[in-house]
Formats: sequence, structure tokens, C-alpha cells
Amino acid sequence: MRSTQTGDLWWKTAVFYCLDVQTFCDSNGDGVGDFAGLADRLDHLVELGVTVIWLMPFYPTADVDDGYDITDYYTVDPRLGTLGDFVEFMRSANSRGLRVIADLVVNHTSAKHPWFQSARSAAESPYRDWYVWRDEPGPEKPGDVVFPDRETSIWTKDRKAGQYYLHRFYRSQPDLNVANPAVRDEIARVMGFWMRLGLSGFRVDAVPFLLETTGIEGGAEGLPQPHQYLRDLRAFLGRRSGDAILLGEVNLPFEQARAFFGDEDGDELTMLFDFPTMQAMYLGLARSDAGPIRSALLARPHNPADSQWAVFARNHDELTLDKLSGAERQEVFAAFGPDEGVQVYGRGLRRRLPPMLGGDQRRIRLVYSLMMSLPGTPTLFYGEEIGMGENLDLPSRMAVRTPMQWRSGKLGGFSTAADPDLLCRPFPGPPYSPDEINVVAQRHDPDSLFSFVRERIRCYRECPELGWGAVSVLEHDVPSALVHRSDWLGRSLLLCHNLADTEVTVRLSLPAEPPRTRCVDLFDRAVQLPISPDGALEVTLPAYGGRWFRLLTGESSDLL
Ligand code: NOJ
Repeated sequence: MRSTQTGDLWWKTAVFYCLDVQTFCDSNGDGVGDFAGLADRLDHLVELGVTVIWLMPFYPTADVDDGYDITDYYTVDPRLGTLGDFVEFMRSANSRGLRVIADLVVNHTSAKHPWFQSARSAAESPYRDWYVWRDEPGPEKPGDVVFPDRETSIWTKDRKAGQYYLHRFYRSQPDLNVANPAVRDEIARVMGFWMRLGLSGFRVDAVPFLLETTGIEGGAEGLPQPHQYLRDLRAFLGRRSGDAILLGEVNLPFEQARAFFGDEDGDELTMLFDFPTMQAMYLGLARSDAGPIRSALLARPHNPADSQWAVFARNHDELTLDKLSGAERQEVFAAFGPDEGVQVYGRGLRRRLPPMLGGDQRRIRLVYSLMMSLPGTPTLFYGEEIGMGENLDLPSRMAVRTPMQWRSGKLGGFSTAADPDLLCRPFPGPPYSPDEINVVAQRHDPDSLFSFVRERIRCYRECPELGWGAVSVLEHDVPSALVHRSDWLGRSLLLCHNLADTEVTVRLSLPAEPPRTRCVDLFDRAVQLPISPDGALEVTLPAYGGRWFRLLTGESSDLL
């Protein structure tokens, strides 16, 4: 077993924070966030306790899919700054001990990318085979269309090319042909470029689609073993920087997702977002029942020792509920998004957490207490730390991508000089407007959500058991309570959460070995609960409450 000192697995105990440069902080008053603005705000992230920034795409884009349609992989969108600004930001981040990863979006390019423009212009173009072409529409299964609001097929005929091309997402995002070795080389070059500028790895967009070879003529020959390609990518990254990571977007059922970690040594993706547990959490919240989370944790495949699951509550996309059954999804819709206007793609909700929970601080805090204590590495989406809401006047998923709310006032501190018309993404209205929800108001308020999240992060960072430990889910007879335990190098934590709106008392039976005599509440260290010699322990949890305990032996007070 590795120790935290020489293990070097920094991602095991990290806190990730996803942000979009465009909406984070505007330094020059043009209404668009930029790298200089982000560099100015790094101390906010340090104060919160975040250790890794995940940058959403910041490359030149046709902007049909908010930056996920790239027109040049080797520079910065000029609206966000220059490559020089990026390097300065990296230096500022690194000097504060922050690591940075970036979105790697290579399943597809923008249709406006010069590669695609060349590919479509002539069959002899050297880029023709960089994309996936067919004389007739290729194979397609029900459910293949990811964005059914705007697309009806994953094959579209290009007039100029006279052929159909594959696009898993919008038609303006043609899929790259990874069966072509030249494409694989170029992807490696893109990664190498940004690694050289100091990244610690990538969040890899749409990994299952990237590996897919259906529809590629001769695909099975060109890419006989898709997972070998993922191994190659990881090996390449490792050669460029030994401790760099790939954090994959793999929204698949657990049984299929496990393969993306690779072998027992974890030679493919370093981290995978845990979509099934995230969805189970919302079902549990809707039912005030811990059962769905418990089942998800028990079903979750064991990750290789050097790998890690990434735990999250919300991200920049819709809250997808696609892994729930139809009836379960309807339960969550009924609880957190009954209006059709907030439901998207038939599978999700275009909402942030606080409005879904009716602004109930107890439940919001319960979610972040859970998030920091569930096995895995927590990943926050910007604005979660202050409880930002969504703006449903914005189309589709854009509802959750409003500007960061720094201070009160019409512009939320986004830019003092900006013309509000330039802000293409207006803030939410009351009670989630910048006047009600902002960083300045919460920073110095010990009772704010910001202070709560910061305190949870601080404790998570002090408890390496959470990132490294062996996890077990404890049996008891209170349906609304989730109790799990994390053991590591002789240290043990007990994490208790109550999803019901009434106080509950949970009777637990801990194993007699190793002997534990008491446990201390990590957020109120004066509170210690006795554990009887046969391992019996009683924990009372307030309505929607979460308590974290360290199990202790004898009189020892170390690790308090
Ligand atoms: C997944 C990203 O999270 C989403 O925002 C994007 O639209 C698609 N991939 C396509 O890149």
C-alpha cells in the first residue's frame, strides 16, 4: 500500500473545480471573462481549498456548442486573451500550488475547423479520411442522437462532399476518425502542446464516443482494440509527464464503465466521473431515502489502486438522469423539475442544485457534506460554493452557465465597466441574483454556504482516509441514513448522513477488531461518543444532517 508521502497520487486527495474562463471573471470590461480575470481570482479558489482547476474549452470555437466545437487546438480563443495570458495564468496558478487540467475535446471538431473544410472540399484532400464518411447514412441505433432537441440522426449529408458524415453531437461537430493513425498522432500532438505549457492532464470529453468504431469503414482494422488506443494515450501522457492524469467523461452503467480504468494497474483513464452514484443521490434526495445511494456504492466497481472515481453533484451539462429507470426519473422530475421547461432531452434537468432543493440550506449542505465524504475525489462546478441558481430564460443547458457572482449589483462584480448588453448570459433573477447570492457577502460570514463548503473541504484534505481508504457501507435499520466507513493505515472515519427531514438515531454495530472506544465529531471536537466493548454505537443525526467521526482507541487523542 502506498503512503501519501511517496505515493504521488495527488488526484486521490484533490478537490477539482470546473470553470469556464468566459463566465468566470472579466478583467477588461468587455463583458466576457478572460484569463487575466481568472488569474486575479485565484485566491478565491485557494481560500476555498480547491487544488485543481478544470478549464472548460478555451480554444477558438465556432461557438455552436459553447466551446465544445473547436476550430484551432493550438491557441486561445482571442476573446479570452492570448497564449501569453494563458501562460501567465498557469504560472500564477502553479505558484499558489494549484494544478490545472483542461478539456480535451477530440471526439469531434467544429465543422468550421480547417481540417473539416478541407476534408469536405475534395475526396483527395489529405484530411478527407480524418472524418467518417459514407455514401449512404451509416448504422444508427435508437438513442444514438445525443441532442434530440436539434438533431434527428447522427449522419448528415454534406453538400460539397456529396457524402454523409458521422456526428455524435450536433451536425456542426463532425466526428474525427481515430482509426486513422494521422488523427491519433495529431491528438497526441495537441496533448503534448498543452502539457508543455504546464497542464497536469485532461478532462477527456465523450470518451466512449471517441473509442467507437461503428460506422468507420474498415474501422475494425484501423482500430482493432479501441481500449488499446486509450492505453496508448495514457502511456503517451505518462511519458510526457509521469503524474499527469486523464479524467474521463464516461457516462455508462458501472458494468461497462469499469473497463475504462484499464487493467488492475489502471493503465487507461486515471479517473472517471461517477455518473450512476450522482443520479442515485438525486433519487435518494427525492425519496428521503438513502437506499439508492447505498445500492450505487455497493454496485460501484472497485477502481484500480492508482485510479479514482470523481464525485460530483452538478456540472455544466443538464443533470442527466439517464441511468435511472423511467419511473425513477419521473420521481426525480416530479420532485426537482416538474415543469417541462426545465426538462431537457427527455433525460435531464437544466438546473443548479439550490433551486431544485427549494433553497433549503439544510439539504444543500447535506449534498456537499456527502460529496466531500463519499469515496472518490470531489469535483465542484463554479458557483456551487456560494449556491448560485440557474437562469431559465437562457436556452437549454446555458441556463446553468451564467457568470460567476462575485458581488451584489447588476453586473455581479463581473465587470465594473461592462455594458450589460455585452453580457450575453444574464444572471438569474431573485432569489438567486447577485444581490442575494455573491462571494463578497459570503466570504466573511461564518454561517454562509461558502464557509460551510470551505470547512468541509478543509476537513476532507485533513482526512486522507477519504481519498485513499477502503470503504464499507454499514448496515442499520434507519432507511433515511447512509453510514459509511473509510479505513486506511489503521485510521478510520465514520461518515453519517440523514436524508430525512426528521432527526434520527442510528444504532450501529462496529466490528470488535480493531478495538475502538469512542469517536470524535470532526466538526465539533468537544463531542465524543462512546463505543461499547462489543462495538455498539448510537449516532443521532439532525434532519438532513451530516456528521463525520474519527474512530479512536483508548485515551489517544492523536489525529484529532
Ligand atoms: C460533453 C460535454 O460535457 C458537453 O457539454 C458537450 O456538448 C458534448 N460533450 C460535446 O462535446
